[in-house]
Amino acid sequence: MQSTENFFIRRGNKNRARLIVIAIFVLIISFLGGILIGKLAICDEKKCETITPVINDASIKEADPHISNEIISGINSENIRQYLRDLTELPHLAGTDADYRQAKELTDFWKAEGLDETFLTPYDILLSYPNNEDEDKMNRLFIYDDSNTTVWQSELREPILHPSENKSNVVPPFNAFSAPGDISSDELIYVNYGRDEDFKWLLQNRSVSVENKIVLARYGKIFRGDKVYQAERYKAKGIIIYSDPADYDDGDTSHVYPDDWWLPDTGVQRGTVYRGKGDPLTQGYPSTDTAFRLSQDDPSLPLAKIPVHPIGYGVAAKLIRRLRMRISTKNKRRTTYNAFGIIRGAVEPDRYVLLGNHRDAWVFGATDPSSGTAIMKEISRVMGNMVKSGRWRPRRSIIFCSWGAEEYGLLGSTEWIEATPLMYATALSATKKVRNPDPADVSAGIATVYDKWFKSFPNDQNSRPKIGSMGSGSDYASFIQQVGLPCLDFSYTYDETKYPIPSYPLYHSKYETFYSVDALIDRGFHVHKAVGQTWAEAARNLADAMIIPFDVKDYANELDSLVNILLDEYGELMQNNGINLDHIRSAAANFSNTVTAFVTSIKNEDKNDPYAIRRINDQLMQLDRAFIDPNGLPNRPLVRHLLFADSSLNAYAGSSFPGLVDSLFEIDKAVDKEASWNIVKKHYSAIVFAIGAASSSLRDTSSFMNKNELHQTNIV
Ligand SMILES: *[C@@H]1O[C@H](CO)[C@@H](O)[C@H](O)[C@H]1NC(C)=O
Ligand SMILES: *[C@@H]1O[C@H](CO)[C@@H](O)[C@H](O)[C@H]1NC(C)=O
Ligand SMILES: *[C@@H]1O[C@H](CO)[C@@H](O)[C@H](O)[C@H]1NC(C)=O
Ligand SMILES: *[C@@H]1O[C@H](CO)[C@@H](O)[C@H](O)[C@H]1NC(C)=O
Repeated sequence: MQSTENFFIRRGNKNRARLIVIAIFVLIISFLGGILIGKLAICDEKKCETITPVINDASIKEADPHISNEIISGINSENIRQYLRDLTELPHLAGTDADYRQAKELTDFWKAEGLDETFLTPYDILLSYPNNEDEDKMNRLFIYDDSNTTVWQSELREPILHPSENKSNVVPPFNAFSAPGDISSDELIYVNYGRDEDFKWLLQNRSVSVENKIVLARYGKIFRGDKVYQAERYKAKGIIIYSDPADYDDGDTSHVYPDDWWLPDTGVQRGTVYRGKGDPLTQGYPSTDTAFRLSQDDPSLPLAKIPVHPIGYGVAAKLIRRLRMRISTKNKRRTTYNAFGIIRGAVEPDRYVLLGNHRDAWVFGATDPSSGTAIMKEISRVMGNMVKSGRWRPRRSIIFCSWGAEEYGLLGSTEWIEATPLMYATALSATKKVRNPDPADVSAGIATVYDKWFKSFPNDQNSRPKIGSMGSGSDYASFIQQVGLPCLDFSYTYDETKYPIPSYPLYHSKYETFYSVDALIDRGFHVHKAVGQTWAEAARNLADAMIIPFDVKDYANELDSLVNILLDEYGELMQNNGINLDHIRSAAANFSNTVTAFVTSIKNEDKNDPYAIRRINDQLMQLDRAFIDPNGLPNRPLVRHLLFADSSLNAYAGSSFPGLVDSLFEIDKAVDKEASWNIVKKHYSAIVFAIGAASSSLRDTSSFMNKNELHQTNIV
């Protein structure tokens, strides 16, 4: 199929959820991961003794240049295909036995393939499940006539369209964390995408109130949880969300799965409507044995207050007045597991490069997430085997991570390719080393993944490919937003200029099967292989390079552009309300100068001095942390990165200075203008301070006691 072979990596339109065919990520971390992923002891004391890092030749040696090619050429598409087949044999919803078995199998696999250490960490968390046994209670929609006779009722399950879907334990369509309820409404009101502007338009221009009514919204444009939130704000009593053919099909509904990759009329997108982060009962902390838990009935939990239900477009066409929703979805505490596999670093075992993706799926999850897990298995096999045979050991530790319960919003959700600025260089150099998987492109001279990416999505200056900024959408959200770790997220997506659709059509439906990937999306698994090669090379480079391959100039450029966007959009308004714009301009200019000096200092540094190498690497790793505000963004204490976070107005979008932009949004309509402006001013000063702290983190350490700089010491 031409469609999906088409493309890689893009910057998302801010208002759109994008497809991932594969969402996976890599990041680098020193000693901070504990709070997120529980205890991450890299080795017990006994084992560490034998590999205590010593200052020796290895610590001042550049990486072996041959390793890169060996790893890239070791990645095998047929292996990935087999792993995917195994992973998608059965449904593996979070908190089920199948999910645990997959975690266990992964750690067994890692051990067998040569990784040094593996472990599973359990978390007892609040999840949500529909009734899947009692047909009189299962989620269902009914239509009544005027005499209250049932004239139509919805199917309880998506029908089987391909024999491979004929498995037990397929969870029926539901929206996780819906409120249970049995409600009726004489009217069903169509609210388009369910955005604030859609409800506003109905109310103001059409005088239609949704109060005490059931509403019908289509998927797309914003996160489904925000549709529910808006429906609640406008006092609807229930919401049904459907996949419209205009968004999930190309207009011709005759060629659909199992013949094509388009969504059939019976396909239903499952998904969480939880708007918080982490376990709802222990937000901000790990759900371990000792954790304090809120009560499940606590009204402060950010859970849906009204029943929500997803449907396909076949059903949506039938819905008319006199509707009843019977929703029995319930929240339940269950145990889920994170699985880890470690390759210990030879020189800096206390520095970690994490490769991760989530493991749990709504049903078979052949694209989301198992394509990523299959690729990760292949990378761990190649790297593990090289370690086992004594051929290679990376300078820093590499940790493979498989998260549980991401689909419920406990870690995030999914998207296109995004990176924090320090990872740009790694993304660019890795894609240059990997061959374009499309033979037609290669014969047309578009030889590498980089070439294709550049051709499809050039940046505004046409000087290199465009790289997306980090929204909230995926597994990496907590790493960047809570602790400030540089992240890189890979995906291979369809040609979005040709198909302006919100996600790949089969997204979160039962039809996301191995068959759909094998026969319709990536025949031969060439795209999967290219993603694996790119991901492996990026990880190798981060783990192996003597000086971590972060380009601080990219950070300065990105900061300048964020400042420009802010000032273009809100500069005048801010100035008119007493904000001195020179503060941020001057801080950004200082940062830029510090960066230039730092780059020169790296060049001049004595590369035979292991302490100098260590110092540079430490400074590089600390830079992103300078942008973490311990108090969090206004009204969002758990979102702490001042530059890269989601907008609170749309959980799928990223925005510049998200705390500022959110606070400035509709500030003219604020009831207490002075209080609102004070929030903006306080946050603005925190940003100016953080930029100064970022400069401090790169300053010349030989004069770090310089009095003038002391006040800007980063406290994070
Ligand atoms: C139908 O049911 C509704 C709600 O239960 C009730 O108010 C109404 O009187 C019933 N109508 C008839 C014709 O029975
Ligand atoms: C599913 O499998 C069962 C038992 O193997 C079989 O009886 C049934 O016909 C199958 N259903 C479909 C739709 O293939
Ligand atoms: C809705 O009403 C507002 C205010 O009366 C008007 O400005 C706007 O153009 C209307 N929108 C549409 C889509 O008609
Ligand atoms: C930028 O650097 C100059 C010179 O060191 C200093 O006077 C000024 O306060 C700095 N600006 C900010 C916002 O930190």
